[in-house]
Amino acid sequence: MWGHRFVLTLHILTLTCLSVGKAELCIDDGVEFEIEYASVGEPLYAVCPLYLLFEKSNFNVTWIRNGSQTEFTSDRQERVHQDQKYLKFIPAQLQDSGFYQCILKNSTFCIKKIRRVEVFNQDDGLCYNHSVRFLNEIPIMPSLRIECPDIDIYVNTRNIQVKWFKECQPLNMDSGRYLTLAKDLIIKSLSQQDSGNYTCEVSFMYNGVTYNISRAIEYSILDLPKEIEPVMTFPKNNILDVKLGDSITLTCEVFYNAIIDLYWTYNDTLMAQYTEDDRVIMGTTDKTITEDGIQNFLTLNFTKVLEEDYNKQFYCHIWSSTSTFYVTLRRPDPNFQGFLIAFFVSIFLVIVIAVIAVRIFKVDIVLWYRSSCLANTDCKDGKMYDAYIMYPKDSMGTSSYEMDIFVLKVLPEVLEKQCAYRLFIIGRDDLPGQAMADLIDETISQSRRIIIVLGNLFCEKQGDDFEQKIAMYDALIRNKIKVILIEMEKITDYTDMPESLKYIKQKQGVVQWKGEFTESALSPNTRFWKNIRYQMPPAQRHSDKELHYIHSED
Ligand SMILES: *[C@@H]1O[C@H](CO)[C@@H](O)[C@H](O)[C@H]1NC(C)=O
Ligand SMILES: *[C@@H]1O[C@H](CO)[C@@H](O)[C@H](O)[C@H]1NC(C)=O
Ligand SMILES: *[C@@H]1O[C@H](CO)[C@@H](O)[C@H](O)[C@H]1NC(C)=O
Ligand SMILES: *[C@@H]1O[C@H](CO)[C@@H](O)[C@H](O)[C@H]1NC(C)=O
Ligand SMILES: *[C@@H]1O[C@H](CO)[C@@H](O)[C@H](O)[C@H]1NC(C)=O
Ligand SMILES: *[C@@H]1O[C@H](CO)[C@@H](O)[C@H](O)[C@H]1NC(C)=O
Ligand SMILES: *[C@@H]1O[C@H](CO)[C@@H](O)[C@H](O)[C@H]1NC(C)=O
Repeated sequence: MWGHRFVLTLHILTLTCLSVGKAELCIDDGVEFEIEYASVGEPLYAVCPLYLLFEKSNFNVTWIRNGSQTEFTSDRQERVHQDQKYLKFIPAQLQDSGFYQCILKNSTFCIKKIRRVEVFNQDDGLCYNHSVRFLNEIPIMPSLRIECPDIDIYVNTRNIQVKWFKECQPLNMDSGRYLTLAKDLIIKSLSQQDSGNYTCEVSFMYNGVTYNISRAIEYSILDLPKEIEPVMTFPKNNILDVKLGDSITLTCEVFYNAIIDLYWTYNDTLMAQYTEDDRVIMGTTDKTITEDGIQNFLTLNFTKVLEEDYNKQFYCHIWSSTSTFYVTLRRPDPNFQGFLIAFFVSIFLVIVIAVIAVRIFKVDIVLWYRSSCLANTDCKDGKMYDAYIMYPKDSMGTSSYEMDIFVLKVLPEVLEKQCAYRLFIIGRDDLPGQAMADLIDETISQSRRIIIVLGNLFCEKQGDDFEQKIAMYDALIRNKIKVILIEMEKITDYTDMPESLKYIKQKQGVVQWKGEFTESALSPNTRFWKNIRYQMPPAQRHSDKELHYIHSED
């Protein structure tokens, strides 16, 4: 029992101390930024700047004039009195301009804030003070709706008669251009002439006395450069290549002289309904403002492109405009690049193979070409022989048996009989007793080619014989006659070979005779004979011509 009473007493003591301490410590919230304006003779309800707090819990409100200790009365008959969150001036007078403290208190808490009140006179000869106007600038539009501002706490705005003035003259309501709707004035067929200072006036009754409340609003109607259409810069019916599973953000971009709303649709329904999940996200409209106008943006984010997104038309729309454009996603041609590469690689390969083939089959190609195209062309150089045959003979004028067979039998058999060439072979075509030097010189100049058959004997002879010198002179110095080298026997040692022959061999190579003296070796279509024929001039047709032999003048 005793203990209980003691605890109770202590509790009361604590509460008392606390509340006293709090009352002295009232939180000072400074001065409210917004000023309450009232024209002389009009009522003013100054609102406690802490009213949001006040509405939350039960506070006792007190108003005092700054610097004074006495709180305002709550007597409604007094010209200035407090009424909960309002300090009412019915009506306001010039001397009311100043600072007022609104103090909120409950048993444990106290806070105060200052409200500034400014009472003004109207400008000379006018029904408003130009410093206390609501200012508006708008472009020309079909109609304008002007609201009589800041009257809601005084009158019931739903059924209210508002009188409207322009430059302090009552509006001609019979003109049909004006319409009043509750606290609003509607001006139809707006033009620049509608710029001006509008005042609205409502009558207000308090304690049986009627007062006027007026507000001034300036409207500047701007004749902006001709109304431009919004311009959509993206999309423009684009087709975008996107890989399956990639993310892509489409950004609708619209250039306009104002901020406008955009939205994306598919099949005439908002993109919000395109997927159940959040796979496709429509962003919020964004903007960048430049000197020329405003670039409005709206993103559409495909976080993961699926098969079903391909080949559909996603439209971006502008509210208030009918012009729309779409964008379509397309699966990129998977191998187009690869296809191109393969194409060029194969062309390159074909060229390489062709070049190689031409090199390998050069001989066959040339021979085929000659046989098909040049078959009937006669050589017009007037030369008598197609080739002059030179072969090694020892100092006694004799050559090896095989060499004789090759030169005197095989060469004429193939080149003369089968290929219709005309050869000059020393030891066959020269007549006994002819002057060798003249004969050789003249015959070589009458030949289109010199065929030199190489054998080991050639190397041993030191190459100082006359025939060879003339031939080399013609071939190399005068460069008139082409030399064909045939290697009869495998020559292992070229050191003794004349320099001129070495040079020719290095320059154009030799054709090697590997054939035995068999039937098949006599076919002009073996590789050996093809190589020879390739180096020979195109074959002539001699059938209708008589063979001419050189006869010594002696
Ligand atoms: C007093 O007001 C403060 C601040 O709103 C609140 O936290 C507190 O609970 C109030 N006290 C009482 C007793 O209502
Ligand atoms: C609030 O006002 C009422 C009546 O005016 C008064 O009884 C009460 O004590 C006041 N409360 C505070 C915390 O000042
Ligand atoms: C108009 O209002 C301003 C601001 O309250 C004031 O300073 C000015 O004196 C007023 N004009 C007249 C003519 O009283
Ligand atoms: C409104 O009135 C002020 C002066 O009171 C004047 O300077 C201004 O031009 C008027 N506004 C219009 C749009 O006529
Ligand atoms: C209210 O304004 C009207 C003109 O709109 C005027 O006739 C009337 O006398 C004014 N009333 C008061 C109380 O000033
Ligand atoms: C588009 O919408 C209509 C009705 O909203 C529906 O009948 C039609 O199947 C849709 N077309 C496609 C391609 O989804
Ligand atoms: C769109 O997706 C990309 C990549 O997933 C992401 O970085 C971006 O923030 C997304 N944008 C919006 C508007 O969701």
